[in-house]
Amino acid sequence: MSEKTANGLKLRNLIDFADLPEGVFVRQVEWSTYSSQDLSAFLTEEELVRRAEMKHSGRRNGFSLGRIALRSLLSDLLSMPASKVALVTAPSGQLLNPDSGFHISLAHSGETAIAVAARFSVGIDLEEVRSKPLELLDYILADSEKDHIDSLNVLDSHRLFLCWTLKEAVLKGMGVGLRSSPNKVKLHVDTRTQSAIIEDPTQQEWQARYCISGSWISALAFQTEK
Ligand SMILES: CC(C)(COP(=O)(O)OP(=O)(O)OC[C@H]1O[C@@H](n2cnc3c(N)ncnc32)[C@H](O)[C@@H]1OP(=O)(O)O)[C@@H](O)C(=O)NCCC(=O)NCCS
Repeated sequence: MSEKTANGLKLRNLIDFADLPEGVFVRQVEWSTYSSQDLSAFLTEEELVRRAEMKHSGRRNGFSLGRIALRSLLSDLLSMPASKVALVTAPSGQLLNPDSGFHISLAHSGETAIAVAARFSVGIDLEEVRSKPLELLDYILADSEKDHIDSLNVLDSHRLFLCWTLKEAVLKGMGVGLRSSPNKVKLHVDTRTQSAIIEDPTQQEWQARYCISGSWISALAFQTEK
């Protein structure tokens, strides 16, 4: 687990993924860094309107941070101002950066957002471990993977969330999100290398890396070849 200090706050590093392949670019941003900045440098007018319509401050901040993480990352990769980076939302909810050839994904949770870009399919997810009703076990895990998951060398309280986060990263990479059930995604996790090999519901193989930092779990799934 790694931590960095910024603005007097201890921030968890949620993108400390081991052994990422070349060409995967990730960024983490914190609301404490951006709360006093002019959001119009990162959000379009339409996004600012969408943001203003959100009732909860956590949702507003998360939405803003997701755009900030992605646009600042793509701004560096494409050498253009963040405000000029185009983001289009597909009908499924998936974000696209048309014309650049980059596949992108983001996750936000309150005060933190993480974003990824690569020239192949990628998906990212971030979850804070909390109590999860056991009924969700069958929604998340297929019967055939329960023994494997039970044997993983992770805290009991983290086990289901680790699976959830890895599976959601793949479903976001596919662009379907939770329209497809997580128990149709099959995991094989290696806790030694903090990685996983994952079969999606269409039987395509994905690789993934994960990072556990206190009560936070992040996962990044990618498909360097199809
Ligand atoms: C993708 C999804 C799982 C994200 O859930 P979440 O854990 O609440 O949020 P995360 O922070 O992980 O990710 C949010 C981002 O995922 C992205 N996203 C949304 N739908 C997506 C999809 N189909 N594919 C890929 N990415 C998607 C968006 O960029 C979104 O951020 P934004 O709304 O600020 O643009 C969820 O939005 C989804 O699948 N929705 C469709 C199905 C649904 O509504 N199911 C509800 C039952 S739980």
